[in-house]
Amino acid sequence: MGVEYVSVQWNRQKKLYDAVLVGGVAVYLVIFSVLTKMLFPHATDEIMLIRAFGTGAFLLLHVILCIGPLCRLNPKFLPLLYNRRHAGVTCFLLGLIHAVLVVITYHAGSDTNPILSIFVSGKFTGTAGTMPFQSFGFIGLVILFLMAATSHDFWLANLSAPVWKSLHMLVYVAYALLVLHVTYGVLQGEGSPVYVGAVAVGLVTVLWLHLTAARKERELDTELVTSNKDQEFVDACAVADIPENRARIVCLSGERVAIFKYDGKISAVSNVCQHQNGPLGEGKIVYGCITCPWHGYQYQPDTGASPPPFVEKVPTFNVQVKNGRVFIHPKPNPAGTKAEPASASS
Ligand code: HEM
Ligand code: FES
Repeated sequence: MGVEYVSVQWNRQKKLYDAVLVGGVAVYLVIFSVLTKMLFPHATDEIMLIRAFGTGAFLLLHVILCIGPLCRLNPKFLPLLYNRRHAGVTCFLLGLIHAVLVVITYHAGSDTNPILSIFVSGKFTGTAGTMPFQSFGFIGLVILFLMAATSHDFWLANLSAPVWKSLHMLVYVAYALLVLHVTYGVLQGEGSPVYVGAVAVGLVTVLWLHLTAARKERELDTELVTSNKDQEFVDACAVADIPENRARIVCLSGERVAIFKYDGKISAVSNVCQHQNGPLGEGKIVYGCITCPWHGYQYQPDTGASPPPFVEKVPTFNVQVKNGRVFIHPKPNPAGTKAEPASASS
């Protein structure tokens, strides 16, 4: 959904995003292949391609996992988030090509079913050297497939936001499995130990970014007002603290509320976008509507409802302004309920 209430299809930003994505992947594959040929002249073309696509998928997965916390730490990274699902689909396709090449190269020659062969080709005896690393890769790939297949908004609408979100949180399970896959794969094979060092650097980077972003969010929440739901209006902030056409986020009864100032009025809505839980309070008012900073879904500030024909709704909060301070009632109104805006100059 865009600023003028039309569905966003293939706009310029999406095309640019995909061009950079595909171009970046192509450049990576070429550089990796050339370097492999130079540094490991005995590696066959199949091995070179297996490694190029496997490392490409794994690297892209790191980028995808880092985009979320980077955006929480600095809004300059938001353009990366805009079309992150295409990066996810690309990651799956690279992993799939890697897996297909492995199956053709290592598993297609015997009488055993090639897919079954992934699971039974080595016997696990409890040692690191016999760890079934290919099975980890297989399960990781299945999770990447499920996420890629349900990445379209059609599935978000049909599965419901909480189910969709839980499904997509499996990316962390896939990541853990693929860290094991690569680490044990390298330990068992003739791959360079540089891979193990690179996996450790990647893991530390992903963990560090997530912990730093979580700490920042926690600081934000503790700074904010707390109360219980039955309490009367709560002093949330000064009108002067809210920039024009933007919001200030406060925490009421454990929920984040975005208080917007626009056209001399103050309105408050839940901070959580119905699309993919984006932070509405970090967006701005565009054409009279709150516009989510992640993918541009819009909501009317007084009703919390998306402009027709869209049907998304977020809860609203009753607001008062007295002596230049904004007071919010901690009990949210049902999603889409009109809450009379307060005059910013009261
Ligand atoms: C059915 C699924 C998979 C199978 C059977 C599989 C199998 C393998 C095998 C046999 C190797 C060792 C290759 C060699 O060096 O000779 C390997 C390595 C590797 N795999 Fe996978 N893999 C699968 C899925 C994935 C996925 C989904 C990713 C990433 C998203 C991935 C990333 C890697 C990486 C980075 C390496 C180390 C580089 C290399 O030596 O090739 N794999 N995999
Ligand atoms: S528009 Fe996607 S999370 Fe809000």
